[in-house]
Amino acid sequence: MVFENIKNLAISVHPQSKRLVSINILQSAIDELVKKFASIDIQDLELKPFLRFFIADECNKIFDSKIKNLFKKILTDRNYGAFVIGPEKFNADVTDDKFLVKLSTAFTHLVGLPNFDSMTGKYYARFEVKHVDSSDSYLRKAYKRLDLHTDGTYVKEKTDWLLMTKIKEKNVQGGESVLLHLDDWEERDKFFNHPVGQSDFIWGSPKSKNVDYKVTHPVFYKDSSGKPIISYIDQFPEPQNMEQGLFLTSLSESLENSKHKIIFKLPPGCSIFSNNYFLLHGRQPFVENKELQRELLRQRGAFYN
Ligand SMILES: [Fe+2]
Repeated sequence: MVFENIKNLAISVHPQSKRLVSINILQSAIDELVKKFASIDIQDLELKPFLRFFIADECNKIFDSKIKNLFKKILTDRNYGAFVIGPEKFNADVTDDKFLVKLSTAFTHLVGLPNFDSMTGKYYARFEVKHVDSSDSYLRKAYKRLDLHTDGTYVKEKTDWLLMTKIKEKNVQGGESVLLHLDDWEERDKFFNHPVGQSDFIWGSPKSKNVDYKVTHPVFYKDSSGKPIISYIDQFPEPQNMEQGLFLTSLSESLENSKHKIIFKLPPGCSIFSNNYFLLHGRQPFVENKELQRELLRQRGAFYN
């Protein structure tokens, strides 16, 4: 892909992977965004959905109305599928949590509509990882690896994309972001072509997710051009027999053992925006620290038609 020059952006291939695009927002554009978003507070954004489109449009204009197409192009290009976007300079503006909620909302609404997040009852979720945790999923377990997975495996809504923004991080060692592109996974075809891989599984979710139904779907599908795509997470499929249980066990092991995992630090103020069909995401464990603080914002949803 050749990246067109866009006002206020510096676009390059991420130093750690040819699959990942890196987008830096110049300070002049951050100043403009802060100004444009100032009149909107978070409650208004939550209660009046139309304002989310307004800030997305304001954001697009700052980049000569070209950032919208850039996002869609990267997210749907099978050779890439993901980008990291963040400020050129790190200062108090770009790590302000309210600013980051607005900016993330602008980003997602350039490409599609976020799904309602039942875990938080909003169109987005903010969640913390701390030293102590009593939750029922791996999401908040700091000292465990969050294994490679896709989102939305247990909901009825389409989950085409996922945006994760780092809001805060203090006293942190480890906890790096991890991505794996399906086409880089050494054993992809072995699992994709396995008869169990394309047969139905039952998917549920723990209580904290607030989803009171189960769904049925396979782990692997084909996209419109026949290429493999995946919908998988380790915790939520409910294997019904030995064959399914053992298939998932070896699938999980194979993904985690891939030599092509992209492992990188995501600084506060930065977001990962990724395709949810051919990119899996996860997190490395944190190094134990009683003062550990880390907060992420998540939105996931479907592309506009
Ligand atoms: Fe996830």
